[in-house]
Amino acid sequence: MEKYLINPNEKKSEICKDIYGNFSEHLGRCIYEGLYVGENSDIPNENGLRTDMIEALREMGLPVLRWPGGCFADEYHWRDGIGPKEGRKKMINTHWGGVVEDNSFGTHEFFDLCERIGCDAYITGNLGSGTVQEMSEWVEYMTFGGDSPMSNLRRKNGRQEPWRLRYFAVGNENWGCGGNMDPYYYANTYKKYATYVRQYDSDKPVYKVACGPNSEDYHWTEELMKNARWMMNGLALHYYTVTHSWGQKGSATEFDENEYYICLRKAYKIEEIIRRHLEIMNRYDPEKRVDLIVDEWGTWHDVEPGTNPGFLYQQNTMRDAVVAALSLNIFNKHSDRIKMCNIAQTVNVLQAVALTDGADMLLTPTYHVFRMFKDHQGNTLLGSHITTDMSGTENDSLPTLIESASEDADGVIYSTVVNTNAEESRQIKCQIADTAVKSVRAEILTGAIDDYNSFDNKDKVRTAAFTDFETTADGFVAEVPACSIVKFVIEK
Ligand code: AHR
Repeated sequence: MEKYLINPNEKKSEICKDIYGNFSEHLGRCIYEGLYVGENSDIPNENGLRTDMIEALREMGLPVLRWPGGCFADEYHWRDGIGPKEGRKKMINTHWGGVVEDNSFGTHEFFDLCERIGCDAYITGNLGSGTVQEMSEWVEYMTFGGDSPMSNLRRKNGRQEPWRLRYFAVGNENWGCGGNMDPYYYANTYKKYATYVRQYDSDKPVYKVACGPNSEDYHWTEELMKNARWMMNGLALHYYTVTHSWGQKGSATEFDENEYYICLRKAYKIEEIIRRHLEIMNRYDPEKRVDLIVDEWGTWHDVEPGTNPGFLYQQNTMRDAVVAALSLNIFNKHSDRIKMCNIAQTVNVLQAVALTDGADMLLTPTYHVFRMFKDHQGNTLLGSHITTDMSGTENDSLPTLIESASEDADGVIYSTVVNTNAEESRQIKCQIADTAVKSVRAEILTGAIDDYNSFDNKDKVRTAAFTDFETTADGFVAEVPACSIVKFVIEK
């Protein structure tokens, strides 16, 4: 039996709700069809935005949405996406399938989407191929409340008041698709562009995010922290879980147990990567003024057979759900420094929370993880520890049990436990320090490692009440099934 200790006396950091964010790019069927179908579509919509997706994302508790890219952001020119739709300039989406982008979804449509979902906006500016003036004027257009050329243009286009722009990134992956820069050059370019990202409302400052490292590129973090830390609020890490190699990533649905574990071990690697980047950040910024942001993460599998390779459409199994849950537990545990994360991407692209087929829509196992975990948003992380066996090798290992625990303002404790073992359950005895437990209830997501929701069987993987536990005076004893995620809600 494994021992699980939760200590409500050890109140750690606040779990920023934005750790549960999403990312939506002009890529494949994410924006067009997935989120936006246009006002004249037969698919039910509000102002062209899919009603089913708005409802699903509200229910999931989506706190923040990142847009318009990704690689797309560094070739996006915002002025092409405002004004009467018939007059909007078209462009070629060179990164993603070479399709023609008609710019019918632009700044106004994005903020409308965020307002309907009830989430904050996180916009990535174009540093790679745009000018300082262009970036500066976009921020003026969005956030200036007075009388100015850009705010008047916004008004002419139908929006009187400025929007609340919570986060703004100064470029994306500028070590790669965003301009192939070295870190020293980017740090200087960042400072130049960020200077002109003006704060027009001191009550609602725009939080500035600098392009951070690609997974294990510790040199990038070092250079950015050394040369530009005083001008940024957050540094953005990207980490994707690729089972085999970038050339041959592996199927999203057809894999054996060995591949299941390879994938999970690669996902778990993010724990070490975060730790090592934080060590560097702590050296330059011991006061923890600059946050670590993980604004692209998730699994990247081969595209579904027969689909456009540039559209990155993949199915989503219980394996992806386990990746999501273990990653979110890790992010919670680092919430003293990690303030926002954005899974890639919301719909029809990579580790999506939803898939669409024309008017049809389904929720993936990953969606159910986000909905289960939303109870952690804004809570206080508690000190917690679980004993566990490990699989894999010394340098490439995976704990069988991975957890995090938090407490809300009413003193209710939420604990999310993942069992990564493909075949065996684990018995756990949870004790909550100095606590008399009144009640425990629980919810589970489980299935075979390769179970997924299809348009013929949309509810194959879904959450259910979990009852295989006994409440004790100071906790509970539970049998956590193989390949499962269990959320315990503990009232005292
Ligand atoms: O999420 C897909 C792509 O992955 C993004 O456009 C880019 O930033 C990253 O390489």
